[in-house]
Amino acid sequence: MSLKIIPAGAALGAEITGVDLTKNIDDATYKQLKQAFYQHEVVYFRDQDIGDDDHLRFSAGIGELRRILSRTNAPSLKPPEIFTLSNIIENGKHIGSYDSGLFWHTDGAYATQPHAVSILRAVEVPYKDGRPLGATCFASMTAAYDALSSAMKHRLEGLQALHSRLLRDEKSNQLGRKRAELTAEQKKNAEAVHPVVRIHPITKRKCLYVSEGYTARILGISDDESKNLLEELTAHCVQPQFRYTHDWRVHDVLMWDDCSTQHRATFDYALPLRRLMYKTTLATYS
Ligand code: SIN
Repeated sequence: MSLKIIPAGAALGAEITGVDLTKNIDDATYKQLKQAFYQHEVVYFRDQDIGDDDHLRFSAGIGELRRILSRTNAPSLKPPEIFTLSNIIENGKHIGSYDSGLFWHTDGAYATQPHAVSILRAVEVPYKDGRPLGATCFASMTAAYDALSSAMKHRLEGLQALHSRLLRDEKSNQLGRKRAELTAEQKKNAEAVHPVVRIHPITKRKCLYVSEGYTARILGISDDESKNLLEELTAHCVQPQFRYTHDWRVHDVLMWDDCSTQHRATFDYALPLRRLMYKTTLATYS
């Protein structure tokens, strides 16, 4: 296989060609893929007509798969490591999570060990007037950190923040998108504390780790100071110069780094326009 890495011309993002994800990938190719991924933070492959087995095999070659319990009516025939994102309703119920990505966030920030990598494949993409809808926006948290003033970098040193899945649900409910109650098990694992600036485990780069969706509080400072600082940082980190927006095509496979990026989905479509995506989540980097 002869890989080609085509940078998106933004702060993050690159297309990778020359690989067929329906086939086994050798170690040398995985090594090249990972290098490109850690450099570009979001990478995507076009025209990959893959099934669940291919998706799982490819993901397992990148890192350790994690099971994510869906609170919606995910098709029971799907392997437990495949998470369904969709606006499709069958028998009166959503077949998958229909409001993930409503706010800027990094996946699993509420977990003690946050998710490492997410790999999303597009099965159905809504189109209107020949244009794809339902894009996903990504922002680079290494670029956002690097662009902070020296004074702000100094101020953030050693600060920790509380990330909460309950906050995320509350925000969603306030917008009228009522989320199902978390199970008792999910509630036990719904909050976690992480440094405001995380060091990426592989690249050792500093990543700003606060988001509109999950960060409830910066610890060790007053409520007002926390609120103001969070407002400033969450606005800073998603500025256009740090972003890449992915317009989906059917059979795209895209993976993002959950330490060095955050993302948000675009809700500019509705049924009868259908969107169906499947996601795997990796617990570790390798
Ligand atoms: C997500 O937030 O994980 C999903 C993003 C998307 O559906 O575009």
